[in-house]
Amino acid sequence: MDKLVIHGPTKLNGEVIISGAKNAAVALLPATLLVDGICTINNLPNISDVKIYCDILEQLGAKITWVTKNEITIDTRNITCTEAPLEQTSKFRASYYLIGSLLGRCKHVQVGLPGGCNLGARPIDQHIKGFEALGATVDVSQGKITAYADELVGTSIYMDVVSVGATINVMLASVLAKGTTVIENPAKEPHIVDVANFLNTMGADIRGAGTDSIKINGVEKLHGNCTYSVVPDQIEAGTFMLAAVATQGDITLKNCVPEHLDCITAKIIEMGANVTIDRDSIRVCCNKRPEKANIKTLPYPGFPTDLQPQIGVCLSIANGTSIINESIWESRFQYTAELNKMGAKIIDQGKSAVFEGVDTLIGSPVYATDLRAGAALIIAGVTANGETSLYNIEHIDRGYENIEEKFRKLGANITRVHED
Ligand code: EPU
Repeated sequence: MDKLVIHGPTKLNGEVIISGAKNAAVALLPATLLVDGICTINNLPNISDVKIYCDILEQLGAKITWVTKNEITIDTRNITCTEAPLEQTSKFRASYYLIGSLLGRCKHVQVGLPGGCNLGARPIDQHIKGFEALGATVDVSQGKITAYADELVGTSIYMDVVSVGATINVMLASVLAKGTTVIENPAKEPHIVDVANFLNTMGADIRGAGTDSIKINGVEKLHGNCTYSVVPDQIEAGTFMLAAVATQGDITLKNCVPEHLDCITAKIIEMGANVTIDRDSIRVCCNKRPEKANIKTLPYPGFPTDLQPQIGVCLSIANGTSIINESIWESRFQYTAELNKMGAKIIDQGKSAVFEGVDTLIGSPVYATDLRAGAALIIAGVTANGETSLYNIEHIDRGYENIEEKFRKLGANITRVHED
């Protein structure tokens, strides 16, 4: 078991290169199953979720070659199996994309019921509703999901809740379906658009990704021989923007898409930061204690739930009292108990939390309760006085490439320590 030991406080300063998006990568990898050919994916984040996905694809018969640490080729000409390893697939959330992909390609799939970060109930009823509408039979029992169909036929599907996973999954399942599928009330996150762009590069006909209605005209087959670059990670970029605010630092993010970060930019300007935007870079400079702000998490283009803990750190040391309203996940305030160990004054009220800003945080032993909570606690450790030991960092390694190296390059005193 590794831990991170951080000595603060440090004002972070310098440049950071943003990696490819985790939540796009974990959808693009299974999307390659829809092709009977070879694809090259670059700007792939080198994170444990990607490695697990590659391992699962290999067990299904794909041949993966690592060209560099951020580029792979995937040969999916010889998919031999539609039953994904149950233990591995039930350990992480994004394994649900195997359902859409394998159903689309082979008309049969079996995966473990998806796990992932403990953020409260994580139903998949909208995924199932979509698959069934396309003509599949879906059975959920004994910790696994089995789906099969004679053929998939396009139809109109209205999503009762805005769901990233269900939108991508239905897109995957309908690319090779007969006729036209329309997804109404889809999610609009940058990774939805990225998956559609990737599939279109391989010959799919998907229109309207990123808008209120996605139309997928089924095609007979997709072609390989394509090279695709994963979109920069909106959440990693937002994490470093908020690290600049919390530490009163000056950070320039390279390889990001500024328009994906509009709601974060607007919020941190409200909190007193200066933001300079260029074509694919953003500089965030904050030379005073952040001001209080109220946040409500929402689907894109609203404020992302995956940046809620990181902005929570900023608000825990802001000038005044702030309220965060979490509207996506039931249990996303678990990190506030850890921040309170560091001297924060946060009252978790379930769907919302009240942050009474304190002058400083104090270094303490703390535990990453999930991926984004872990990133937030690194920021907290960098701002805090004294030593912070951060445990359970395997959560962080799932989604952030080389995180301590990136923080160290910005001046943080942070070390990974191996502990038995
Ligand atoms: N929902 C349903 N039924 C469904 C699906 C979702 O009621 O069938 C509800 C959920 O309970 C939740 C809301 O809809 O309240 C949104 O869930 P969504 O399906 O959008 O979440 P997800 O696809 O499971 C992805 C990301 C999460 C991120 C959410 C929201 C991946 C692999 N995961 O999850 O990322 O929080 O979208 O943006 O893309 C993370 O990266 O740390 C992370 C947790």
